[in-house]
Amino acid sequence: MTRRTLSHHIILPPFDDGLPDTVSRISQAVFGSAEPHRIRWRLTHMPDASVLAVRDGEQMVAFKAGYAVSDTKYYSWLGGVLPDYRRRGLASALMERQHAWLRARGYGMVETATNQDNRAMAAANLKHGFLIAGTRRNPDNTQILFLKALDAQETDP
Ligand SMILES: CC(C)(COP(=O)(O)OP(=O)(O)OC[C@H]1O[C@@H](n2cnc3c(N)ncnc32)[C@H](O)[C@@H]1OP(=O)(O)O)[C@@H](O)C(=O)NCCC(=O)NCCS
Repeated sequence: MTRRTLSHHIILPPFDDGLPDTVSRISQAVFGSAEPHRIRWRLTHMPDASVLAVRDGEQMVAFKAGYAVSDTKYYSWLGGVLPDYRRRGLASALMERQHAWLRARGYGMVETATNQDNRAMAAANLKHGFLIAGTRRNPDNTQILFLKALDAQETDP
């Protein structure tokens, strides 16, 4: 892999028509599955949707997408880092940038859910100040729910 300088972006509506497909492609590579219709629907219809992205040249290599669930709470919904780009701090950088953006936008809380067997993401959430708020039983898996208060004074690690 050639190591170029990675660039960070925050992408806000109105989204390019191709963005949901790009997010779906990375989701497919990261999770082994993607639901393009669901991704397109949420990015189109959920309030205050955002996609924080890292690009290597023109290629998106990591992203973090979310949307508001109330005027004070934001849901960090979906994210991933392509395998060749892991363990280089990209998930941390995306989380820090997302939380700073949410604070600036006036949100007081951010929540997220992580599959129970996803140790890496659970560790990243705890590292960045989330607390475990509960669990959610879905038909095909169990998720850990995480919540973080976005204290205006806080600086992320
Ligand atoms: C989870 C994931 C996003 C981490 O991305 P990353 O860029 O490699 O993570 P970072 O390098 O920023 O690491 C941040 C922290 O995450 C944790 N972490 C990352 N990879 C880990 C691993 N393989 N095992 C254990 N902890 C891990 C660590 O706490 C790490 O902090 P540290 O470096 O101080 O130990 C990435 O592995 C991924 O895309 N996985 C598949 C998709 C996924 O699970 N998405 C989240 C659910 S929506």
